[in-house]
Amino acid sequence: MKKTLLSLLFLFALGVSARELALLPMPQKVVVKQETEFVLSPKTPISFDASLEPQAIYLRDLVRRSTGYTLPLKVGGEKGIVMRIDPKIGKSESYRLDVNARRVTVVGADAAGAFYGIQTLLQLLPPNIYDSRLQPQTRWTVPAVDIADAPNRPWRGLMIDVARYFYDTDFVKRVIDLMAHYKLNKLQMHLIDDSGWRLEIKKYPLLTQVGAWAGAKEHRLGGFYTQEEMRELIAYAGVRGVEIIPEIEFPAHILSAIAAYPWLSCTGERHEVPVQHFISRDLLCVGKESSFDFLRDVLNEVVELFPSPIIHIGGDEAVYDRWAACPHCQAVMKREGIEKPDGLQGWLTNRVARMMKEKQRTCMGWEEVIMRGEVAEPVIALFWHQVNDTIQAVKTGHKAVLTPATHLYFDFPEQKTPGEVQAATWMPPISLEKVYSMPLNDYSEAATVLGAQACYWSDQFIHGRKLQEIDVLDENRSERYAEYLLFPRLVALSEICWINEGRRSWERFSKSNAYNYRRLDALDVHYRVPEPRIVNKTTNADKTTSFELASAMEEGVIVYTTDGTHPTRHSARYDGQVTVEDEELFHAATLSGRRVSLPIYIYPDYSAYAALGEYVGKHRTLADKVEPVTESFDLTGKIRGNGNYQITAVSQTGAPPIFQHWEVRKRGEIMADGTANDEKIEFSITQFEAGTPFTLKVSRQTQPQKQEFLLFIKKR
Ligand code: ACM
Ligand code: ZN
Repeated sequence: MKKTLLSLLFLFALGVSARELALLPMPQKVVVKQETEFVLSPKTPISFDASLEPQAIYLRDLVRRSTGYTLPLKVGGEKGIVMRIDPKIGKSESYRLDVNARRVTVVGADAAGAFYGIQTLLQLLPPNIYDSRLQPQTRWTVPAVDIADAPNRPWRGLMIDVARYFYDTDFVKRVIDLMAHYKLNKLQMHLIDDSGWRLEIKKYPLLTQVGAWAGAKEHRLGGFYTQEEMRELIAYAGVRGVEIIPEIEFPAHILSAIAAYPWLSCTGERHEVPVQHFISRDLLCVGKESSFDFLRDVLNEVVELFPSPIIHIGGDEAVYDRWAACPHCQAVMKREGIEKPDGLQGWLTNRVARMMKEKQRTCMGWEEVIMRGEVAEPVIALFWHQVNDTIQAVKTGHKAVLTPATHLYFDFPEQKTPGEVQAATWMPPISLEKVYSMPLNDYSEAATVLGAQACYWSDQFIHGRKLQEIDVLDENRSERYAEYLLFPRLVALSEICWINEGRRSWERFSKSNAYNYRRLDALDVHYRVPEPRIVNKTTNADKTTSFELASAMEEGVIVYTTDGTHPTRHSARYDGQVTVEDEELFHAATLSGRRVSLPIYIYPDYSAYAALGEYVGKHRTLADKVEPVTESFDLTGKIRGNGNYQITAVSQTGAPPIFQHWEVRKRGEIMADGTANDEKIEFSITQFEAGTPFTLKVSRQTQPQKQEFLLFIKKR
């Protein structure tokens, strides 16, 4: 009996391929050995080099919750789970992981490497190892493997915008934990923006007494990290191989500081911290020495607090009208022989970069820090527009991290399916596959690209208007939103930074990711449940349509409807094939626990109208209504900048629609309106603002017959 069991186990071990281990990010080299697995027991010791004590405690505490075992800790020794450091095995962050029936050996080139070995070990265990509740039924096995692994890029980052929405330390710790599971290592905290100053600065108490809070009385929103809390976060992150990069933003996005100390701005006017999403035109006045005293004092405290060799100084999106109108700023330009205001920003960056060099720190900034003015000290720029602008960085001796908004701004939704969470709209959605497809190249021979970073901005939906549309009783809504927008995309980011581009495989990644949802389930992450895929669609002789679907989750359950309604967990369950009469009424969704994904449905093919631009919407009227009909269409994301636009209506039922009145609104504000006597509406947009919703409203005379028309928009 025992022998049979053993050979069964052996066969099982034989059957495991590297692919099925579903390791994310995929290690560089995995050998699955034809040996029996390792089984974790309450007696398995963790034997570690003394310097790895924090990581040993991390492992003990993490597995204690789900296994109920308190693994004994032992400095030195060769038994159980052995954790060692050996710098000879490779570059920083690399590790070796060897598993056989007797022992698990993790060797890191450094503490971070050993920590990543532990993360891979956790992924090799059953996924409920991550569960915070006891899992008494699970046998804790690890397949016999030999893994050698190292990251391709040293910068695998995430920025969280804690300024527009204040995430408390518990949530930041959770983000750090989740980053660590996927071997991400840089957490940029966007600590300052117009809507909030989030870091205690002892010399300027009003920064947090005033600048951290918006709104009055019961509508007050905000918060900040004390230096003590920040120290704790830094230590917490450090054990997990995560470096916290503080972002002290200036010269723009600093209204929260100006609200506290009005003398920081050019005008000295009083302001309040805004309660809605708002981008101020006020800048830090660089014409007054008091501003530099302020920066020096603040940055001194920041440098004291943060061990990171990198201090992020913001620098994005300054518009210069305040500087242009300020006698102090103008006097500096004259004195320094600076002709253009962006040169003044370069002058500011240089002064601060020198200030930081004296403290042995390197400045990092948004791409504007090197694109505006010449910066003499080497800095690290985060490229959020054009990734090949990094060539510019090379020429001037700087380094680059890629965070293209098109691929890595996770404040955008994954799809534009109706029902998707309210999120940023100034660009098209960013699907998981798009994240995975992001090119991560060095654009010049000099390797200057340190890696990539996702940005999670909170302004578009959390601190602003959209927050108020969500049930206020749901206190964790913003945190769950964050998890929804970060996962699974953060896992794709991790892999594109960790492995080199030649080893990417969307097929393998998708398969591992399908399994990885189980880990996210155990971690109780509010990830975005993926829609099913249509793998085959056939039109039958009797005009019915047959669909074959596949789940994007391993063993995923698919529910569907055939009457155009949104599937729920009570809807019919897919098991094989569905045949429907009207394909437009067929909706299918993934069921994950009690959560249902957004539905997939057939989007009509309007490619024949490509010359008219992008599809806006369809309108149908019934035959028995003859009074004017008013209807709204969403143009968000379809108006993408200033310019002249044309909307064309195409009748599907004969007579063209006559628009008695139409208007285009930006948020509530009318941008253009008029009457149109034919099928075309033409207008210009001159005050485009990223992130604001646009709508088209049309009123028209109906005719006493059924009507249907399609609307398309294009930029002329
Ligand atoms: C940015 O998105 N303003 C860096
Ligand atoms: Zn000024």
